[in-house]
Amino acid sequence: MNPIWAFGKVDFTFLFDWEVTMHKSIKHLLEAHTKMFAVLAEFNHQFREFRLGKDLDHALIESILDYLNRSAQFNHHQAEDEMHQLLCSRYPVAISKLSDIPLEHERLFFLCDALKEALSDVASDAELPRMWLVSVAKEYENAQLRHMHMEEDVLFPLAEQYFTKEDWIEVHTRVSLGKNKEFDRIEAADIEDLQQDIATWSDDKIHS
Ligand SMILES: [Fe+2]
Ligand SMILES: [Fe+2]
Repeated sequence: MNPIWAFGKVDFTFLFDWEVTMHKSIKHLLEAHTKMFAVLAEFNHQFREFRLGKDLDHALIESILDYLNRSAQFNHHQAEDEMHQLLCSRYPVAISKLSDIPLEHERLFFLCDALKEALSDVASDAELPRMWLVSVAKEYENAQLRHMHMEEDVLFPLAEQYFTKEDWIEVHTRVSLGKNKEFDRIEAADIEDLQQDIATWSDDKIHS
């Protein structure tokens, strides 16, 4: 049985098998991307229909944006920011290949806020052109897609290529510090429920 070292609320069990930790980190991030890509596909579908003249389901779009934001904030962007920072500080050869990941994360939230504002404006003013809202939504969607593809094509492979055991442990330690396991458990379940709701919502619409 593996021993467990406890330091405050941080579980250091992962120190005993860093290779598993490395693959689990990347796997966790990739799994989150897969779900976010699926939700973005529904987002794309909704705005294509809207562009063709159908009503926009504002509640569904709000749920999609809520899902994307909470997924990003749930250990995801922070882990990628830590990976980016460690790559830049310890492996300068990687810098030229990397985009500014933390800045892109900030931009995604900014674009999301801009889209929420545009949705609110359209809801209160029927005269606003559809194409304007569609273009704001498209900018957000494209930024999300480009960002995740870049991470999968560049950030994750670079981290796998350069990071040592100590680097992965440092990323884990930084992301784990100050975490409340009970809060994380509840937030993970809520995010999962939200994704299921969006999938069911979409299925119901398709078959109604
Ligand atoms: Fe990211
Ligand atoms: Fe990501």
